[in-house]
Amino acid sequence: MEESIPKLQQNKVNDKRPQFGNRVLSNCDNVFQHNSWDNVVWDEEQQKLAQIKVNENSTIILSDEKIQKYEKAADKYWDKFYGIHENKFFKDRHWLFTEFPELAPDVVKQNIKQPLRSTSENTENHQNIHIKILDVPSKKGSKILEIGCGVGNTIFPILLYNTDPNLFVYGCDFSAKAIDILKQNIAYDTSRCKAFVLDVTQEKWETPFEPESLDIIILIFVLSAIHPEKMKYVIQQVHKYLKSGGLVLFRDYGRYDLAQLRFKKGSCLAENFYVRGDGTRVYFFTQEEIRILFTSCGFTEEQNLVDRRLQVNRGKQLKMYRVWIQGKYRK
Ligand SMILES: C[S@@+](CC[C@H](N)C(=O)[O-])C[C@H]1O[C@@H](n2cnc3c(N)ncnc32)[C@H](O)[C@@H]1O
Repeated sequence: MEESIPKLQQNKVNDKRPQFGNRVLSNCDNVFQHNSWDNVVWDEEQQKLAQIKVNENSTIILSDEKIQKYEKAADKYWDKFYGIHENKFFKDRHWLFTEFPELAPDVVKQNIKQPLRSTSENTENHQNIHIKILDVPSKKGSKILEIGCGVGNTIFPILLYNTDPNLFVYGCDFSAKAIDILKQNIAYDTSRCKAFVLDVTQEKWETPFEPESLDIIILIFVLSAIHPEKMKYVIQQVHKYLKSGGLVLFRDYGRYDLAQLRFKKGSCLAENFYVRGDGTRVYFFTQEEIRILFTSCGFTEEQNLVDRRLQVNRGKQLKMYRVWIQGKYRK
């Protein structure tokens, strides 16, 4: 078991984490035997090929006017996205609590012995593994905010698995449509959570909580949707609303992820920042960029890692390399 636990790059938390799964490809001939492999190591050649693809698709040929249009109407493009996908965008994230056990610490401690759902994958993930759970300021009655909460992929699992009776979860998103869909969910319990519309790039935040009042702020696949020039402001605001000792839990797209390599010329808005066919935008981070962003806003790094996974389409014999960056930062 020990050797199948991923080796984390620059991971300051010295814990034996299951990190997303632990199916490691040791013999390349076996690649099509499973749908996915964890912690795939990239060689120099692969890195170079990815850089070539990015160089090709990074020629900016969009006019400033168009770039501005995507910025100004960013929320409208996400509204449209949620209008089309409705709650089909709801995802079952079995990795949420293995990556971020701080979101449901009691159940994770229990789950180390007995998985949440006894699929073979979960069982594999949890046997004999010590998960490090970082402290947050409030022992009970934690206040959590998810920024860019969408339709509740993270909020509802927290409400389901976190056993703290005084927990309160806030969720904000600038897509009014997403917040509408989230509020229609039968699990939306106003005694334990509140979702509201907020564009976090705006100068003035209208929030149902005070500065320095939150234990955890979650940023999962949201910072990548924000213009790179506005990211620092958002992280400064995150710092302002956290209690001293509060935690940021971050996960987002990594540089050279399959999604980045698939962009065609004419989709690039700025370096490593692209617009999708539906008008929504996405940035691809390196570990170092995330480190600099948070530490320059006064945070201390608890974790910063890159998660690489190889997904396989066995029918089409296709190999798809996914890259995610994950971080935990403390105020
Ligand atoms: C890729 S989705 C991720 C949604 C959710 N975090 C999840 O993981 O399922 C990005 C989300 O960020 C929201 N978003 C983008 N820019 C935002 C901003 N400036 N303020 C608030 N929310 C924003 C979008 O509306 C969308 O719901």
